[in-house]
Amino acid sequence: MHPLDPIFKPQSIAVVGASRRPGSIGREILHNLIEYNFHGKVFPVNPKADFIHSIKAFPTVASIPDPVDVAVIVVPREEVLAVVDDCARKGVNGLVVITSGFSETGEEGRGFEKLLVEKVNQYGMRMIGPNCMGVINADPEIRMDATFAPALPLEGRIGFMSQSGALGVVILNMARELDIGFSYFVSMGNKANTSGNDLLLYWEDDPLTDLILMYLESIGNPRRFMQIARRITKRKPIVLVKAGRTGAGARAASSHTGALVARQGLDVAMDALLDQCGVIRVNTVKELFDLALAFSKNPIPRGNRLGILTNAGGPAIMATDAAISMGLEVSKLSERAAAELQKLLPPEAAVSNPVDMTPKASPRTFAACARFLLEDDGIDSLLVIFVPPMMVSATDVVAGIDALRKEFTKPILGVIMATEDSFDEINEKQPGHMAIYHFPEPAVQALATMERHRHWRERPMGEVRQFPAEREAARELLEAARTLGEVHLSTPDAFRLLECYGIPVARSAAAATIEELEAQAKRVRFPVVLKAVAPGLVHKTEAGGVAVDIRTLEELIAAARRMSEAVGGHTATATEATAQLASSTPLSFLMQEYVRGGREVIVGMTQDPNFGPLVMFGLGGIYVETVKDVTFRVPPLTDVDAREMIRQIRGYRLLEGVRGEPPIHFEALAVILERFSQMVEDLPQMAEVEVNPLMVFPEAHDFCAVDARVRLTLSIAD
Ligand code: COA
Repeated sequence: MHPLDPIFKPQSIAVVGASRRPGSIGREILHNLIEYNFHGKVFPVNPKADFIHSIKAFPTVASIPDPVDVAVIVVPREEVLAVVDDCARKGVNGLVVITSGFSETGEEGRGFEKLLVEKVNQYGMRMIGPNCMGVINADPEIRMDATFAPALPLEGRIGFMSQSGALGVVILNMARELDIGFSYFVSMGNKANTSGNDLLLYWEDDPLTDLILMYLESIGNPRRFMQIARRITKRKPIVLVKAGRTGAGARAASSHTGALVARQGLDVAMDALLDQCGVIRVNTVKELFDLALAFSKNPIPRGNRLGILTNAGGPAIMATDAAISMGLEVSKLSERAAAELQKLLPPEAAVSNPVDMTPKASPRTFAACARFLLEDDGIDSLLVIFVPPMMVSATDVVAGIDALRKEFTKPILGVIMATEDSFDEINEKQPGHMAIYHFPEPAVQALATMERHRHWRERPMGEVRQFPAEREAARELLEAARTLGEVHLSTPDAFRLLECYGIPVARSAAAATIEELEAQAKRVRFPVVLKAVAPGLVHKTEAGGVAVDIRTLEELIAAARRMSEAVGGHTATATEATAQLASSTPLSFLMQEYVRGGREVIVGMTQDPNFGPLVMFGLGGIYVETVKDVTFRVPPLTDVDAREMIRQIRGYRLLEGVRGEPPIHFEALAVILERFSQMVEDLPQMAEVEVNPLMVFPEAHDFCAVDARVRLTLSIAD
């Protein structure tokens, strides 16, 4: 038995705080349990009453003679802990705590919640809530509606979890109107004991749940969520409304990566994470329902070719435009389908795709034409548009199409541009009818999302590969810098770090003094680049610390002298400690081969306060923040993630080569991203890393990082 079974599959329920007052929450929960025909025993518990709602009541849970699986607690906050003790005496294993006034209310409430969680853990119970609206299991074998929502849910195959109770009520109402049914509905409240991840795991193998919908305000453990969701979405779609899209919040950003994350204003980390685990994110509850309708009532399409059947031209054009802009194909019909339709329809009808039957089409014509379209192997899904003319009933059209749904394993979505009365009639006369929308665009959008989901399912999972690396040497490098109180690694050390992970860097030589530089220069091939090196010197270009295309020894020495003078006062980004160090440590130099002819990309990492590290890839160089052609992922990257990142940026075409240029070596670039991800995973001491530019070429052996910055965390926990 699963530890959550006592809550979701109980044989007996105690409603503690079942109230005598009609309209009170405790009374409504008792009422819903009975009204929904719970297949088990219900025991009201109330010390002040002998019976409630015509049912014998008990003064305590312990005094109930029968076993009790779950207690729904609806008593004032101050009573809750004593009720939990009472439940423990009875051997109750599951709790649903409706009572509010816990961590959602501030300091005092947090104290109460801590005590509650401790008690629940101590007794080995499981709990939903506190501060929740209750739970529903619509399985005909159970039929438990332990909520106080006025609308009783329809039975269906959707597991729904909501972090907002109020929204839960709205959702149950709307779902009924749209003929959407649930297997489970869970209002999670403060998620003090049972998390969204726990519920996902519970539904992963649940035979009655095919689709998971989530309304979340926070994800407690994003990395665990990613692991679980990545697996589940291969079999069951997950659609999520995540509130709080704006306000990524300010963060210390001394890199393009950090600045881009902060400036995008959207929670890029969340988007990256959801993308990586195949979770479909929507912005509104309306969109959630649009998708719920399509997914819950249809199989996943086998391809992107859409057939459109209509009795009115305008909406079909809207649907066609929407389909094409969303990547669907409104494909040509097979000759057979076209010939059959021609026989069936009047001469003024259009028998290409969209098939416009004209307003004369009867429900029977709708069904007959739909059949030919569905039989056409060149059509993967069907959109049926109906604008009601006089004398043709929408319900009859829907009934005719519904009959075909049993025969064909292709998605069929309806657009009925009619009044609310027509929808009420369809709900009443055709329960379990096809997915119906008021307008073409949301229907097409839903089909396009289903198509994307098919791609996700078919996409290989990929693997996180481990490459040989000098992990210990890298750690020592970071620790040494930290011991010196440095915030950033020096450029030579940053290069050395990259080399530890097999990321190629430009050939370079360090020199402590101008004399040493002169000696080194005799052994290099010009042209070269000269860079100033000093603790805390991060923005070298701005500080006059970079000179490029130096062609002679004389130019090199002159540049080094200029640099010594210019750089002195530019270590402002350092902490106080490193600034002091900078003034006491003389400037040194890094001479580098002058790399030309490559294309510039950026690879970066920044820490998100909730998600941990976030890896960025995009077009590099000095215009990174202007062009903003970047993409993010939560590491560890799989081989598939790395390749997708590269393909995802707009500048991919540039990397493929324009005007006869050869493409860059994509495989070598992907491996660098994988190695970078491995480095990020291995070294939590790094707050930000940026390799920019990384010069990429058609030949793998030409690749090299030309500049790199590494900012350290102040402590591991930072
Ligand atoms: N055991 C059993 N019953 C008890 C009890 C106990 N230890 N202590 C009190 N009760 C009974 C009361 O006698 C009362 O029954 P009565 O009306 O027949 O006298 C009933 O429980 C409710 O107690 P009451 O004091 O009337 O509280 P209330 O109904 O005003 O409020 C809550 C109780 C739980 C509804 C309220 O505290 C609360 O948290 N409300 C917000 C709930 C919410 O919004 N949750 C989140 C949804 S998203």
